[in-house]
Amino acid sequence: MYYPEELVEEIRMKNDIVDVISGYVRLQRKGSSHFGLCPFHNEKSPSFSVSRNKQMYYCFGCGAGGNVFTFLMEYEHDTFQEAVRALAERAGVKLPEADDSPEARQKESRRARLLSASKEAAKYYYYLLRRQEGEQGMKYLTGRMLSKETIHKFGLGFASKYSNDLTRYLKQKGYEDELLQEAGLCTIDEKHGTHDKFWNRVMFPIQDGNHRVIGFGGRVMGEGTPKYLNSPETPIFDKSRNLYGLNFARSAREDNMILCEGYMDVIAMHQAGFGQAVASLGTAFTQGQAGLIRRYTKNVYLSYDSDGAGVKAALRAIGILRECGMSGRVIHLEPYKDPDEFIKNLGTEEFRGRMEQAENSFLFELRILERDFDLSDPDGKTRFQQEIARKLCGFSEAAERENYIEAVAEKYHMGYENLRSLVVNHAAREALAARGNRPVKATGKKSASKDGGRWAQRLLLTWLSEEPRLYDKIRKYITPGDFTIDLYREVAERLFEAIEQGSLQPAAIISQFEEEQQQREAAALFHTKLPELARDKKEREKAFHDILVRVKTYSYEYDSARMGSDLDALSRAVAGKKALEELKKTHISLD
Ligand code: UTP
Ligand code: MN
Repeated sequence: MYYPEELVEEIRMKNDIVDVISGYVRLQRKGSSHFGLCPFHNEKSPSFSVSRNKQMYYCFGCGAGGNVFTFLMEYEHDTFQEAVRALAERAGVKLPEADDSPEARQKESRRARLLSASKEAAKYYYYLLRRQEGEQGMKYLTGRMLSKETIHKFGLGFASKYSNDLTRYLKQKGYEDELLQEAGLCTIDEKHGTHDKFWNRVMFPIQDGNHRVIGFGGRVMGEGTPKYLNSPETPIFDKSRNLYGLNFARSAREDNMILCEGYMDVIAMHQAGFGQAVASLGTAFTQGQAGLIRRYTKNVYLSYDSDGAGVKAALRAIGILRECGMSGRVIHLEPYKDPDEFIKNLGTEEFRGRMEQAENSFLFELRILERDFDLSDPDGKTRFQQEIARKLCGFSEAAERENYIEAVAEKYHMGYENLRSLVVNHAAREALAARGNRPVKATGKKSASKDGGRWAQRLLLTWLSEEPRLYDKIRKYITPGDFTIDLYREVAERLFEAIEQGSLQPAAIISQFEEEQQQREAAALFHTKLPELARDKKEREKAFHDILVRVKTYSYEYDSARMGSDLDALSRAVAGKKALEELKKTHISLD
């Protein structure tokens, strides 16, 4: 159901953000903001701020942020519309009856249509599984010891043997071929027309953190290939930024998460009482997924298959977790192949025991590494020890490195001093080599300017939202088109428009985005840390001017790079250059 903008805005204004969030988080007033412990990540000292003026919240630790709707979406796992309804009720605002007219539907965004088609597909598969057509699938799932509740909880379903079944059903519900193709539910080819993507498979709907179906994995019946067929990436399905099971795991109230390899593993784990289990989505574990987990916990248990492929995948995942500042521990499942088999044979308590004995991920890496060396040969042994030293150099924090040197020396009977001097020597050699390499680093310049450009765009948006009267002085030079990232540009358009109408409410701009992730990113644009040189006016003016020049320069460079392929870019670049030159000569006063 789509609610008009004015109504959404009325509801937002009637729900003061400090009052609402106080119902969930203990807040203390500090200056113009309220602070508390962030409910979206683990922390000991408060970096979660709520501002009554801005009607926004923002966590300087994990970057969670938004307005009062975003908060409910994140905390209660609501969709935007659900958050609107909940807050309408809280403030006693009456909502119009649901409007299912074609016009109302038209207004739903493309993403919303894709989500709704996926949801209908999931419902249809769910229905088929419980019908005669799905008998074989149901037999399969119960044969794998899944209970009725589990099958229901994960919304499992069945795609029938007829290769056009789903498409026909959804078309009759009003979804067009092209949309179904974009949702990854069917393929269209000239010879055969429209074809369901999945048939004769047990279906695992993949949900995002808010329980919305964004894709599917389908398991073949019996031995065919591929064993699992997965939805392709679509505008709503980003495989590197979602995790199977996260919709439940995020509220599992455990201080850890268990990372598995497969859909079945996650399901078996949840059924056995480990609601904090998640898995990647038919692809290797990514940094984006690590970042997602870190919003909830830094403690990750790896529960990968015990075969060679599983060990390799675990090593990769450990590297990624470490890059993201998290440490993993490896659960050993031997003699079983995967968590699903383990649980089936030994049960929950034994698994808990294995968690307690889980191996430190660094020691796990060394143990695997050791296999490549012949330790009975002195040369082999030396090379292994040097390799250990090299890996120990990877710990940039001295205390952590020392602890590892101690643990490793003991485990491998190397003598603490010996190992320590190997590490020191290795570090010295690296430092020398790095000095010799310095000129090569010059290639990093390009990306620095890119980041600098983005950063300047963010600074400018924050600055203007705090001092909107400055907009009048710069409108001649800066337009929304100067913001090179789609979301930034949309925020700039709305910000400038609101300032011109004299009705700036940053929190209102946020609710014009329906997606939690977009709201969060938009909120971050209003919370960039401005340079701390507020002391005197001259310095502030210089800083402001620098930011303008940087935004304009970057936008000019951005357009120039695209001139060849885009005629508009050419004329934008020409105009941009002129504005830039004028801007450079102009003094802009902050009075
Ligand atoms: P596994 O082959 O270990 O499957 O692949 P599984 O989850 O244990 O399934 P069962 O128990 O044999 O039924 C692990 C994960 O790798 C992805 C899937 O996400 C799967 O859950 N995968 C595997 C694919 O995407 N395609 C494949 O063909 C195989
Ligand atoms: Mn498996």
